[in-house]
Parts: sequence; structure tokens; C-alpha cells
Amino acid sequence: MNNHDIEELLRFYTLSGVDETCGSAPFALSAVQATSSGSQQTTPAPLSFSTSEATKNANDLCQSVATINELKAIIENFDGCSLKNTAAHTVMGDGNPQAKIMFIGEAPGAEEDLIGRAFVGRSGQLLDKIMNAIGLSRQTVYICNILPWRPPGNRSPSDAEIAVCLPFLKRQIEIIQPEYILTLGAIATNSLLGTGETMSHLRGHWMEYKISNEKNAQVLATYHPAYLLRTPAQKSKAWLDFLRFSKAIRQNNQQAV
Ligand code: URA
Repeated sequence: MNNHDIEELLRFYTLSGVDETCGSAPFALSAVQATSSGSQQTTPAPLSFSTSEATKNANDLCQSVATINELKAIIENFDGCSLKNTAAHTVMGDGNPQAKIMFIGEAPGAEEDLIGRAFVGRSGQLLDKIMNAIGLSRQTVYICNILPWRPPGNRSPSDAEIAVCLPFLKRQIEIIQPEYILTLGAIATNSLLGTGETMSHLRGHWMEYKISNEKNAQVLATYHPAYLLRTPAQKSKAWLDFLRFSKAIRQNNQQAV
């Protein structure tokens, strides 16, 4: 490699959102080679399928799985979303798959990607504290994300990435069959419900998600813990949301598991 190649490679890494090194081998070497072989392309290798083909493929694959472990296997083998090329791990849900309560976040961050477990970084630690304060824990809740792969550099996921990964989340919900869902942040809430609102419109009232013809889950939206870490003044509103969530569970005599 000459200096120019090295410069191109570093530029590619930066544009891909690489902000740390954690091993001796570069990731997605084929994408790097395609990009650094003379073209002016400045983004990671594109999807080899169109968004609608990849979404249909994800949907079709989901029909054949009945358990979370089977779903994990098909997601790990799925090649329709380029986020997988830059992620270290496919991050599935954490907590109790028998739970009747589900929390849904956006996407794994750097620590989740490194370890392969949802909500283990600073956001997750805050989430654990708030959920413990209302008597819930990872033994009584199932926690997952809209996307199983970290977007490079923690950028927001694109509409296409969300569309392609949504069938996996929906199948997860069909398998878990939650009574109550707490969505964390606008991206999680709008992606799940197909809405396009701001958090100030979404939070504070109950909504419904249709799991099947026979079953709806009650959905409450609150702020994402990462937002609360950046904007602590909003913690009091989030606390009201968690209290509302807890009250509904208890009023309906709903066992967490
Ligand atoms: N933020 C999320 O939305 N999900 C995680 O798993 C971690 C941080």
C-alpha cells in the first residue's frame, strides 16, 4: 500500500463512522477494497438488494421461525442490510423472553456492539436504574431494539435500514406476545407505530400496537435514556411516564412474567 492508499483507507474508515480500534484485523475488507480501488465512492458498500426486495426477504425469512433463537440465526445470516458489515455483533434482545413487558430502543451503541448485548452502556445503566425503581428488571422485562446492528458512529438509522430490519422486530413481538410495550425515543416509537410525530406528541398517552387479529399490546412512549443523559431536565417527565407504565401494569394485575 502506498501513502495514497493508506489515506483513502483512513478516509473510508472515518466516513464509515469508525471511532475506535479493537482488534488487529480491519472489518469489511471487501468493502474497503471496493471503495479504495480508485472510485470516488465515499460511502460503505451499498445494499446488493433494493430496500423493498430486502424487506420482503426479511419478511419471508421471518415466517419460518418460531423461537427467538431461530430468529437470531436468520438475522445473523441475513445479508440485506449493510449495517451488518460494519458491526462487530448482531445484538438481539436481552432480558426475559417469557416476559409480558417489552422495552424497545433504537439501535446498539458502541458498547453494545462490542459486547453483543442490548443496553449495556451508559444509556442501559440509566435504564436499569429507572426500571428497578418501578420494580422491574431484566428478569421481568424483554429489552430489544428496532435495529440489531449499530449504525456507524452512532448516526441515526436511515428509513431504508429501519424498513429492512422492521420485520425482525415485528416477528420478535409476535414470538414474545407482550401485553405492554414501552418505546424509548421518537425513532423507536415512530418506527413501531408507523407514525411521524415528535416525542412531545407521542409521550404521555397510551397507544396500541396490533400484534395479530386476536391481540393488541398497549404502548407507552418515553424519552430515550441517551436523550435523558444529555438533557437531565427532562428526567422528571420520563419519570412520570415510567410511573404511568408501572401503574397500568399493576392495575391490570399483570404479572411481569
Ligand atoms: N441505545 C439503544 O437504543 N439501544 C441500545 O441497545 C443501546 C443504546
